[in-house]
Amino acid sequence: MRILSVASEAYPYIKTGGLADVVGALQNAISQRGIEITTFLPAYPGLEEAEGLELVAIPWAFERDGGPYLDADGRDWPDNFARFAAFGRAAAEKALAEGYDVVHAHDWQAAAVIPYLDQMSLVQGLPRPKTVLTIHNLAFQGQVSFLQPDDPARHNLNLFDVYFGSDWLEFYGHHNLLKAGILHADAVTTVSPQYAQEILTPAFGCGLEDILTYRRPSLHGLLNGLDLEQWNPQRDASLAAKYSARTVKSGKAKNKAALQAHLGLTSSGAPLAGLISRLSDQKGIDLVLNAIEPWLSAGGQVALLGSGDAALEQAARELANAWPGQVSTTIGYSEALSHQIHAASDFLLVPSRFEPCGLTQLSGQRYGTLPIVAPVGGLKDTVTDGMDGFVMSEVSGASLQDALHRAAALYADPKALLDMRRAAMGKDLGWDMSAEAYLDLYSDLIASET
Ligand code: ADP
Ligand code: GLC
Repeated sequence: MRILSVASEAYPYIKTGGLADVVGALQNAISQRGIEITTFLPAYPGLEEAEGLELVAIPWAFERDGGPYLDADGRDWPDNFARFAAFGRAAAEKALAEGYDVVHAHDWQAAAVIPYLDQMSLVQGLPRPKTVLTIHNLAFQGQVSFLQPDDPARHNLNLFDVYFGSDWLEFYGHHNLLKAGILHADAVTTVSPQYAQEILTPAFGCGLEDILTYRRPSLHGLLNGLDLEQWNPQRDASLAAKYSARTVKSGKAKNKAALQAHLGLTSSGAPLAGLISRLSDQKGIDLVLNAIEPWLSAGGQVALLGSGDAALEQAARELANAWPGQVSTTIGYSEALSHQIHAASDFLLVPSRFEPCGLTQLSGQRYGTLPIVAPVGGLKDTVTDGMDGFVMSEVSGASLQDALHRAAALYADPKALLDMRRAAMGKDLGWDMSAEAYLDLYSDLIASET
């Protein structure tokens, strides 16, 4: 069985979020099981060849300064639809030319491979590989205003007219890559069982709930795992002190002291809540900013690391200014600081409005840093309230305050705190189960007649 995994990012080569972590980890987990898998990425500037990685050069689309999706000023590239359609087309060409058995596309940026595979396999008279589309985040769909038949942008895509119709890309006056992928992939997966249920409803379906409901028999929720080598407090070179479940109490104390000194937080035994996130509406950052006052008034501390929305960045800076010595805000992206905050913090805040899976609650548990999460998506699937973290009763500032209150009470009981940290650290958070589930899915598709 040969798999082509098609994605716009993969750790450690290029990363803007958890998509990269998962694509990179899937490559490792599948290849470790003796299955041939190649990850297909755009050749962004500066990327180098690596085993199991194929970079496609599309200079007009990907040789630019800035990020994969945003220009240097943080705005979407205006031609993102065309850029990633070209990427999907290149992936389809490779998959057909080299006879891959399964093409696994991740998110809208890879979804164009599905219509292109359909057209090209017909034209070339070649068998079409089986296709899997994984939805990591339904909020991003790759949508443009309806491309009229005389539009050069439509002509450049080189797809037959049928692909612009409502059986494929057309979606309420637009053309939408994710919609076409969802409708036609042989299997659709998303990254947690809970999110697989939620996206069938208007509240979480981002307008695609009816199409997802139609595909429900082929929709699977396969929970993400954590890369246990990248996240290992016993071997983590960026920590002030390495530690295990046995030494978690002293290990965390040393890391906390080091981080407090590094970030200018008061050296104290107060509870420390970490927050490492894209600063976006999805992540519920505004809930933290609005609900954190009682925690701080009681002496608690916060270490925040993130970047994104300019207004949220500003509000996070203001919180740090208002609470010197108790709140530290770092705007930016840093793997090392992220690991240090994980190791030093007592709790990790993840109050997302929606969360397809979420990875920081898993890395938090692995580091004995109890996550405080919203009751949505993969957060709900991976945190058990009072056992290995805290689950808010709803997505609101009041329930975040309640969860913080319960966390502070636990913190005041060192024996119970230690027990819960060890329970979190003892969980099986790796890729074994999910890798087997993906392999079963690939095998079932290959064996199926259609
Ligand atoms: P999402 O993909 O929606 O952003 P996830 O929780 O799935 O959320 O994955 C986010 C990943 O990015 C995690 O590995 C997290 O630790 C990392 N991350 C997010 N923001 C930062 C940051 N500012 N610095 C370092 N790592 C970050
Ligand atoms: C997306 C989601 C996040 C998920 C990640 C990896 O970025 O927002 O919840 O963990 O993809 O699947």
